[in-house]
Amino acid sequence: MSYVSSGQNPVVPPPAGQPQVQQKPDLFIHTGTRNSDLIYRVNGRDGRLYQAYLGTKLGSIESLRQVRDEGHPAYATFGTDNLFEAAVRATHNDANPSLELKYVSHQTENADANVSLTRIILRDPVYPFEVTLNIKTFANEDVIEQWAEIKHTEKKPVTIFNYASSMLHFDANKYWLTQFHGDWAEEMRMQESELTSGIKIIDSKLGTRAHMYQTPVFMLSLNGKSDENNGELIAGTLGWSGSFRFVFEVDEKNSLRVISGINPYASEYSLPPGKPFITPSMIFTFTNQGKGQASRNLHRWASKYGVLDGTGSRLTLLNNWEATGFNFDEKKLAGILDDTRKMGLDLFLLDDGWFANKYPRNNDRAGLGDWQENKAKLPNGITYLVKEAENKGVKFGIWIEPEMVNPRSELYEAHPDWILKLPNRPEHYYRNQLVLDLTNPKVQEFVYNVVDEMLTKNPGIAFIKWDCNRMMTNTYSPYLKDKQSHVYIDYVNSLYTVLDRLRRKYPDLPIMLCSGGGGRVDYGALKYFTEFWASDNTDALERIYIQWGYSCFFPAVSVCNHVTSWGRQSLKFRTDVAMMGKMGYDIEVSEMTENELKFSQTAIANYNRLSDVIWHGDLYRFISPYEENRAVLMYVNETKSKAVLFAYTLNTRYGETFNPIRLQGLDPSKTYKIQELNLSNEGRRNMMMSESGRSYTGDHLMKIGLNIGSATPLTSAVYEISE
Ligand code: DGJ
Repeated sequence: MSYVSSGQNPVVPPPAGQPQVQQKPDLFIHTGTRNSDLIYRVNGRDGRLYQAYLGTKLGSIESLRQVRDEGHPAYATFGTDNLFEAAVRATHNDANPSLELKYVSHQTENADANVSLTRIILRDPVYPFEVTLNIKTFANEDVIEQWAEIKHTEKKPVTIFNYASSMLHFDANKYWLTQFHGDWAEEMRMQESELTSGIKIIDSKLGTRAHMYQTPVFMLSLNGKSDENNGELIAGTLGWSGSFRFVFEVDEKNSLRVISGINPYASEYSLPPGKPFITPSMIFTFTNQGKGQASRNLHRWASKYGVLDGTGSRLTLLNNWEATGFNFDEKKLAGILDDTRKMGLDLFLLDDGWFANKYPRNNDRAGLGDWQENKAKLPNGITYLVKEAENKGVKFGIWIEPEMVNPRSELYEAHPDWILKLPNRPEHYYRNQLVLDLTNPKVQEFVYNVVDEMLTKNPGIAFIKWDCNRMMTNTYSPYLKDKQSHVYIDYVNSLYTVLDRLRRKYPDLPIMLCSGGGGRVDYGALKYFTEFWASDNTDALERIYIQWGYSCFFPAVSVCNHVTSWGRQSLKFRTDVAMMGKMGYDIEVSEMTENELKFSQTAIANYNRLSDVIWHGDLYRFISPYEENRAVLMYVNETKSKAVLFAYTLNTRYGETFNPIRLQGLDPSKTYKIQELNLSNEGRRNMMMSESGRSYTGDHLMKIGLNIGSATPLTSAVYEISE
C-alpha cells in the first residue's frame, strides 16, 4: 500500500463565533498497474472520497498534493448535493432518501506480485449504511477490476435503487465512444461517435443475458479518436450476464463520468440488514497506446483470470446443428462420429433435438425441459453414443438448454409454478419457449440435476454446449412474490449459484457458452465457461466483422468459429475465417468432395500445429474491415518465434492495389520464414503476390512490410511466420 498525506491544504478559518476545528490533512490512496494509475483523495475538509487521477502512470504522485481541486466524487450518492447521476441511491427505514458517504479506512492486500486488492470503506455519518469500494489491480496486464459492496444495519430492509460497480471520471477535450450493438446473427457491430453534453446510456433489459442488442463492452477514447496503435483510451466491460447499464455523462465543465453496473431499471432492491449486496465487476484497462494494446491487455488478463482455463487448450469439434437440425437418428450420428474422426477433429458435439418423448423434440415447439433421450431417435441412449465415440477414437459432447421450457413439455405440465410468467396475462413466447424461475431453489436444483445426472450416468461426456435462447418478457416470478423488482438480479445470481455448484464438482469440463448465437458473452459467465459461441451467423464475410468486434475484448481461445455452409464463399475462405479463433465445423462432411475433404484435413492439421499461437498469442490488428475492403490480423507467440497472419480480401475496386503491410510484435533481430498455408486451387489462382517461401528479418517485416493477400473479392491467405 502506498499513500501520502498532503497536509498542504490551507486551513479555512471558521465563521465568527464558531470554534476552530483542526483541518485533517488530505489522504491519497494509490492504486494502479504497471502503466496506469487510479488515485483517490480523501479530502481532509469534508471527509469524502474523490477520484484524484486516472491515466498514464505518474512519475510521482506527490504533485497531486498541489492540485487544489479535490477531483470528482469516487462513488457519488443521491439525495444530498450531487446534481448528476448517482452511483448509489437508497431510502432508509425512516423514509429519508439521502445518502452521504465519508471515508472510514482502507487497506491493500497483495495476493501475489501481480494482483492486489484495495478496499476502501465509506460510511454514512447519520445512518448505519456502508459501502466498500474494491479495486483489484493486475499489474502486468494493466487491468483494473472494480466492484462495490453495499450493506447496512438498519432495523428493517433498506431499498437501494442504484448500485453501480464502478464510477470513473475523465477530463479531456473530447470523448469518443466505441460501442458494439447487434441482434441475433448481427452481433458486435462496431460504432464510434463523439459524446456530447448530457447523458448517453448503453444498456440492456433482457434479464437472462446482457448481450444481444447492446453488448456490455465499450472503448472510450480521450481527446481524439484512437487507432490501433495510438491514443489514450479505456476499454471496459461488465462481468454480468443480465441487464446492464453504462451511463456516460458529460457535464457543464466537459468532465465525463462513467457509471457502470447492473441496470437499475425496474430493479429496486430491498436489502435486509447485515446482508451485503455485492455488485458484479467492472473490468477495464487504460492505455495510451491505442486500441490494439487495450485489447491485448484484456486478452492477457482474460486468459489468466477471466476465462475458465484460459491458458489451456481447446477441443476442435464437429457439430451437427447446421447439417441435420432436429432431423437425425442413431445411424446418422454414427456416420457423423466417423466423419469427426475422418476430418481429424477431437470431438463430436450433438446439438439440440436428442431429448423428450411425450412431446418429442423434433422442432423448437416442443420438448424443452424433458431431458430424457428421445427413444425414437436414440433407442440406445446417450450412453451408447458416448461408447461409440470412444470406439471411434473421438470424444463426445452434448447440447443442453436447462434454464428454459416449452409449453408443450412434461416439465411445464408438472411445474407451472416454476416458470417466469404473468399470472393474469397470456404467455409470451420467444422461440416458442419460456424461462424457468431460477430464483426458486427447487428450479436451481432441477437445473443442477439436468447436468449432474447426465454426467454421472455418462462420465465419458467430454464437452457441453449450454444454450439460452430467450430473454425475459411478461416476467413474473411466482417464487419472489412481492419482490418482483428483484427478478433481474436474483435470476443472474441464481444462475451463478448453479454454475458455482457445478464447477465445484466438474472443475475442468469444457463448456461452451451459447445464447441463441452470441447472446450471452460476458466475463461474469466466462468464469464458468471455457469458450462461447459467437453468433449463429457463420457466413464467413459477416463473420469477419463479428469476430473483429469480439477480438476487441475477448481472447481468441474463447471465441468459437465454425466452418459451415452459410455464405457463398469458397471452403478455403470459410476455413481461413474460422481459423482465427477456436475453430470447429458444423457441416455435412459426407457431402464434401474428395478435394474438399483433403483440404479440410490439411487445414485441421495446420490448425492443430498453430492453435497455441492463435489462442494464447498477442493479437495485432493491422487492417480493419470497418475501414477498408479487407481485414488483416496476426497472432504472435510470447517468445516471438512464431506468428500466424490472416488476410481477407472482402471486396476490391477496379485497379485497386494493396501496399505492403508492416507487421508488429516480432523480434527485429530474428529472421523469419514466411510460409503460406491452406493452399487450394482457389487460393493460388487469386494470389496477388505470394511471399511464401521467403525469409526476412523481423526488422524488415516491421519496417518495410510484407505483400499480403489477393485482389479478388472473398479470397484469403494464412501465413505461418517462423523463426
Ligand atoms: C441456438 C444456437 O445458437 C445454435 O447454435 C443451436 O445450438 C440452436 N440454438 C439449437 O436450438
